[in-house]
Amino acid sequence: MIEAKEDITWILAPMDGITDRCYRNAWMEVFGNYSTMKQAVSPFVTLVRGNTVRKSHLADLFPRYNRMEVEPQILGNEAEYFAPMARALSDMGYTSVNWNLGCPMRQVAGKRRGSGMLPYPGMIESFLNRVLPGSPLALSVKIRLGYFAKEEVFPVIEVLNRFPLKYVAIHPRIGKQLYTGEVDWDTLEEALGLLKHECVYSGDINSEERAQAFHRRFPAVSRIMLGRGVIADPFLPCRLSGTIFSAEEEKRIFARFTAVLFRNYREAGLPERTVLQRQKMFWSRFSGNFVPPNGFGQVKTVVDTAAYQRICLGLFGEDWHL
Ligand SMILES: Cc1cc2nc3c(=O)[nH]c(=O)nc-3n(C[C@H](O)[C@H](O)[C@H](O)COP(=O)(O)O)c2cc1C
Repeated sequence: MIEAKEDITWILAPMDGITDRCYRNAWMEVFGNYSTMKQAVSPFVTLVRGNTVRKSHLADLFPRYNRMEVEPQILGNEAEYFAPMARALSDMGYTSVNWNLGCPMRQVAGKRRGSGMLPYPGMIESFLNRVLPGSPLALSVKIRLGYFAKEEVFPVIEVLNRFPLKYVAIHPRIGKQLYTGEVDWDTLEEALGLLKHECVYSGDINSEERAQAFHRRFPAVSRIMLGRGVIADPFLPCRLSGTIFSAEEEKRIFARFTAVLFRNYREAGLPERTVLQRQKMFWSRFSGNFVPPNGFGQVKTVVDTAAYQRICLGLFGEDWHL
């Protein structure tokens, strides 16, 4: 259990293709009562050309489908497409939006979007100058340390400091690294020395020890995102909030979680193939003693959802019910 756990707000990190509403709602339904993690930033939606945004583009964000408190995230560099998006989100009841300046994917960064914009602080400044006045939404930003080099973060922070942002989330890697290598807490420390906004931290908090080490080094950072750590071990936010389950309880709760995940994806009306792919993706990431031995080995071979259900019943028995 992390010291000062009451002072820390845990936030589910945005993960494209993973932390959509089916996942968020399943996590909240099964683990929500045992953890203080009640908020998420959504995976990005892209800014779109035109004066209106189609509802289907924002389906993941319909408030009536969301059990968690969600802050939507947008990706793009076209200031002229921001106003219709902000209007649509505001009409849905949102009061703030997060701007993605961290995505490292080549198709995105190569077009100077996501982390690909970090080497160009002038572009960031001009975007903010154009979108902030008159925006119905508050804006927060999620950045990396740079795209090519970590030093890019300093001029970016100088620009961000000049605008009224809600917070700046920092994932201390550079875009070129993707998700490899270590997070760079030394450069983060330097960056925090300059930053005038609240910092939300994101990166490699995947155990109580890591959370503890981060908190010791950065005691002033009180909002922390959990990403791959919670996907691998959905109990992590519970432990970080002080709730410990026995091994037996963990197995039972994990069975329930996989059943609710499956149910949510099926009920979302996705094609059967997609529902199955999603379950396999989650199983490939699950890691901990609560996972039945050779669970993923069995799940990855199934070819339809009926077979998937049979495998789960075999693995969990009556604990697995929809
Ligand atoms: C598969 C995947 C998808 C991601 N999608 C997004 C995204 O849509 N928006 C975003 O800001 N960050 C995204 N991220 C970055 C995470 O939010 C987070 O900053 C990063 O994974 C580091 O934190 P972690 O070590 O806790 O996972 C993604 C990461 C992964 C691995």
